[in-house]
Amino acid sequence: PIQIRVKDLLSKMTIEEKAGQLNQLNSGDLTGPGLNATSQQEKLIMLKAGKIGSFLNTIGASTTRSVQKIAVEQSRLGIPLLFGYDVIHGYKTLFPIPLAEACSWDLDQVTENSKVAAKEAAVSGLHWTFAPMCDISTDPRWGRVMEGAGEDPYYASLLASARVKGFQGKLESEYNVLATVKHFAAYGAVEGGRDYNNVDVSRSKLWNTYLPPYEAAVKAGAATVMNSFNVLDGIPASGNKFLLTEVLKNKWGFKGFVVSDWNSFGEMIPHGFAADYKDVALKALKAGSMMDMESKSVINHLPQLIKEGKLNIAQVDDAVGRILYYKFKLGLFENPYRFSDEQREKDNLLTPAHRKVARIAGTKSIVLLKNSDQLLPLASKDKKIALVGFYANSKADMVDMWKGTSDYNTYVTVYDGLKAQYKDLTFADGYNSKNETSEKLIAEAVNNASAADVVIVNIGISGKVSGEDKSLADINIPAGQIALLKALHQTGKPIIALVTAGRPLVLTQVLPYTNAVLYCWLLGTETGNSVADVVKGLYNPTAKTVMSFPYAVGQVPVYYNHFNTGRPAPDPGGDSFYSRYLDIPNQPLFPFGYGLSYTTFNYRNLSLDLPLLNSGQVQNVSVTVKNTGKYDGEEIVQLYINDITASIVRPVKELKAYKKIGLKAGEEKTITFQLGAKDLSFFDDKGNVILEKGKFKIFVGGNSRDVLETTFELK
Ligand code: IFM
Repeated sequence: PIQIRVKDLLSKMTIEEKAGQLNQLNSGDLTGPGLNATSQQEKLIMLKAGKIGSFLNTIGASTTRSVQKIAVEQSRLGIPLLFGYDVIHGYKTLFPIPLAEACSWDLDQVTENSKVAAKEAAVSGLHWTFAPMCDISTDPRWGRVMEGAGEDPYYASLLASARVKGFQGKLESEYNVLATVKHFAAYGAVEGGRDYNNVDVSRSKLWNTYLPPYEAAVKAGAATVMNSFNVLDGIPASGNKFLLTEVLKNKWGFKGFVVSDWNSFGEMIPHGFAADYKDVALKALKAGSMMDMESKSVINHLPQLIKEGKLNIAQVDDAVGRILYYKFKLGLFENPYRFSDEQREKDNLLTPAHRKVARIAGTKSIVLLKNSDQLLPLASKDKKIALVGFYANSKADMVDMWKGTSDYNTYVTVYDGLKAQYKDLTFADGYNSKNETSEKLIAEAVNNASAADVVIVNIGISGKVSGEDKSLADINIPAGQIALLKALHQTGKPIIALVTAGRPLVLTQVLPYTNAVLYCWLLGTETGNSVADVVKGLYNPTAKTVMSFPYAVGQVPVYYNHFNTGRPAPDPGGDSFYSRYLDIPNQPLFPFGYGLSYTTFNYRNLSLDLPLLNSGQVQNVSVTVKNTGKYDGEEIVQLYINDITASIVRPVKELKAYKKIGLKAGEEKTITFQLGAKDLSFFDDKGNVILEKGKFKIFVGGNSRDVLETTFELK
C-alpha cells in the first residue's frame, strides 16, 4: 500500500529534502506579486538538491517533461514534482466562469465542464488545479465572486462537490487532476469587497454560512486545501490552528495536504502576526499549514527550526507524507511523465466535442432577467438586427485573467454568433474600449437602430476587470453606456440588452430603456454561439441567478438569506424608525434564484404530509407546477425554510432543496421534496449540529422572493 511506500521514502529523506517537498515555486507567469522571485539558475540548483517539491504555472507537455526529468534524474532521491495551475474555468477550451455555470443549477453539467477542463490540463502535463473556489460571497464589488457559486451555502456545497468530482474523478486516470478547496476560510467576506482585505465574521456565521462549502468539497475527496489571505479572529488563515488543525484535520478528518496561497505565509509579517520569515515558517507549520507557495520561508528555515527543537519532526513528516501520498497515488513514481505526452496533448485540446460542451454550458448559464411583451426569442432568421456594443466584437474583453492557455483567436464573439444565425445584421460600437461614448458613436448606433426591426445592445464591463485583484467600488453600468441606451430607446425600436460581466452589476438604470435583458456573464470560448442559441430560442433559458442583483451599490452586501432585524421594515418603504434606507428599497433588484424562461410557470397547492413532525420523520412537501406559456421549458423549483424561533437567530429564508423539471407547454406536474432532520438543523457557535423543536415556515417557488408559504411544527 501507498502508506508503506511513503513511510519508507520518508525514512530515507534528509530534513532539507523534506523541506523541499514543502516548497512550491512559481515558474511561469506571475499570479501574485513577484517580490521573492527565484532566478532560473537558483531554481535549477535547488531542483537538483531536492529542494523543490512542486511548481506552479509550469505548463505544457514538453516543458513539464523536461523539468520533471531534472527532478527525477538529477536529484538524490528522484522524487517527482507536482505541477499545479489555476484551471478555473478551462485550460484551452474556456467554459462559463464558475459563477455563471452555477446559475445553471445543473450539477451534471458542472461536473462535465470540470471534467473536460481537467482532461485538457492533465494532457498538458498538469497534475493539479487550484480550484474549486468555495468562498461564499455577498459582495459583487469583490472581483473574485466570478470564481465561486454565489451567496448560498447549501447550493455552493453541492457545486463544490460537483466540481471536485469532475476534476478528480477517482484519480485513477491520466485525465484527472487534484482539486484544491480554496480559500480556507471565509475569504469571500473581505471587508468592502476589496481583495486581500481583512475578514471579521462571527463563529455562528462561520459555521453556518462560510464553512459548509469547504466541508462539502473535503468530504467529496478533494486532495488539497489552500489557505486564504485573510485573518480570522485576528489570526491569519495560514497560521490559524483553529481552522487548519481543529476544524480541517480533526473535525473533518481531512487526509490531503494544505498549500498556502501565493506568499500567504510571508504575508503574516505585514499582518503583524509573525516577526520574520523564520517565525513565519514556525507559525504556519505549527498551525497545520503544509506546502509553501512562493514565500521560501519553509525551505530556508525548517532545518534550523527542527535543530532548535521548535518544531516537531512528526508534524513535518505528516505534512511531507501527505504530499508524497498524492505523488504515489497519481502514479508518478512509476511513470513521472505519464501526464506529459505531447501527442495526447495535441489530440485533446480544444476538440469539437469540448467546444460543444462549452456551448451547451453557456446556454445554461445565461439568465433572462426581463422579457417584456415576449420580445424574445427572435425566432425568425429574417429579423433585421442592429447589434450595438463594443464588447460584442472584442475578443480581448471576453475573458478574465484566468484564461488558461486559451487563444483569443479561437473565441466566438457575440457578433460572430449572431451573424451565423441572422442574415441581416449591422454592427456599431456605440461606446469605446473605455466605456465612453461620443456623439459620433451614438449617431452611428442610432442610424443602424432606426433601420432595424430590433436592437441588440451588448453592455457591461470587460472580463479584464473580473477575477483576482479586480475589486471595484462602482458596479454601476458605465455612464457612457447608459447614454447610449437612452439614445437607442428614443428610436422606439425594441431593445434587448446583453450584459457582459463577471459579477452582478447594478441594472436599475438599464431597465427603463430596455425591453429584454439577458445576463450573459463571461461565457468563455463559445460565448457568441451560446448567446445566439438563446436569442434565437434554440435554447429556452433556465438559469437562475445565484447572487442577488443590488438595486444600488450602497445596498451591498445584499443577500436573500439574511437575518431579520428587530425592526423589519414593512415592504416597500414603511414608517419611520424601521430598518430601511430613505432613498432606495431594502430589496435587491433581482433576488437570489431569479431567472425567467420564454414560457411561464404557475405554482399552486403547496402541501405538507404532516402538520406535526417527529425528529426521526421525513416531511413530504408537494407542489404543483404548471407551464402556462406557449413554449416547452424547464423550471428550477426551489424550496426554502425559515426556523421561526431558535436559540440562535436563523435567516429569513434558507434554501434546502431544488429540482429542475421539464414541462411541455400546458403540462403540469406535482413534485415532492423530502425534508429531514438534517435540513432543519443548524450549527451552534462551536460547530455542533443543533436540532430544535418549534415552528418552521416552508416556502416553494421559482425564486427566493415569489413563493408559496406554509408552516409545520417539529416536536
Ligand atoms: O490559486 C491562486 C489563488 O486563488 C490566488 N493567488 C494566486 C494563486 C496561484 O495562482
